[in-house]
Amino acid sequence: MFLNIQSTKTLTNGIEMPRFGLGVYKMTERDETLQAIDKALKVGYRAIDTASLYGNEVEVGEAIRYSGIKREDIFVTTKVWNTDQGYDATLRAFEVSLKKLNMDYLDLYLTHWAVPETFEETYRAIERLYDEKLIRVTGVSNHHEHHLQKLLSKANIAPMVNQVELHPYLQQEALKAFCAEYGIAVTAWSPLGRGGVLDNPTILEIAQEIGKTAAQVVLRWHLQKDTLIIPKSVTASRIEENAQIYDFELTQAQMDQMTTLNRDHRFGQDPDNFKFNF
Ligand SMILES: NC(=O)c1ccc[n+]([C@@H]2O[C@H](COP(=O)([O-])OP(=O)(O)OC[C@H]3O[C@@H](n4cnc5c(N)ncnc54)[C@H](OP(=O)(O)O)[C@@H]3O)[C@@H](O)[C@H]2O)c1
Repeated sequence: MFLNIQSTKTLTNGIEMPRFGLGVYKMTERDETLQAIDKALKVGYRAIDTASLYGNEVEVGEAIRYSGIKREDIFVTTKVWNTDQGYDATLRAFEVSLKKLNMDYLDLYLTHWAVPETFEETYRAIERLYDEKLIRVTGVSNHHEHHLQKLLSKANIAPMVNQVELHPYLQQEALKAFCAEYGIAVTAWSPLGRGGVLDNPTILEIAQEIGKTAAQVVLRWHLQKDTLIIPKSVTASRIEENAQIYDFELTQAQMDQMTTLNRDHRFGQDPDNFKFNF
């Protein structure tokens, strides 16, 4: 599988979505955020994943404009937060995000979590934004198969992306197979398990065998599993390290070793038990 940092996955509507990008969760300090995005874009990242919850949409927009890279060459994702869900509220939240980012369209807008009472109406609003060409791609996040089934039974436009927690300890094979059946691309959030999988002896052993770091092994594994990734780092050397995953390939034996690491362990919350009222 030949891949480079700007490789894309073709979505069901023909749009090319970068397979690799920068996540900016927990980047709350202005300078830190601007510097991290600046570094990432210089290294060749062409996708940024933010959310209204992260409180850094203003900085994301600024960093992209400052880079001098054409807006259409960067894939920007943001998400509607749980307390803003429902049809009208989502449309209003989108306007606020667009204004903060200071953009006139977004590439991808996601329902952040499937709030039981509102996620279907939220997705209906996302379909409208797509119809109005304010977003290029529709999607959701933290949706289990049963949530997707509900959306698919009513939607005019099936979600094109589902962003879920996914890493070696939570491999999500069943959900991935379901998404593949419906042409829904899967993006891994916490692709490094927030750093929590990097001391795993099997991963470290593979890393040593091939002269790469544990993070590089995990990120390459994701790519070879056809999973899109958005690793987060504010550390310049790591932003670079995480992008250096295109000059090697894991063997089938190494991929099989990675498969054995699944333990259905979540570092984040289960979408079915999320505390929606905080
Ligand atoms: N949709 C959702 O509900 C949801 C939930 C969570 C996250 N996300 C998205 O997914 C993105 C990534 O997830 P995440 O931030 O939770 O976790 P992650 O990317 O798996 O891990 C980030 C952590 O790992 C560290 N790290 C990064 N590269 C490293 C390396 N090469 N070696 C050692 N440590 C490294 C980072 O530290 P430093 O920053 O200090 O370098 C940070 O503490 C988020 O930023 C966000 O955009 C979405």
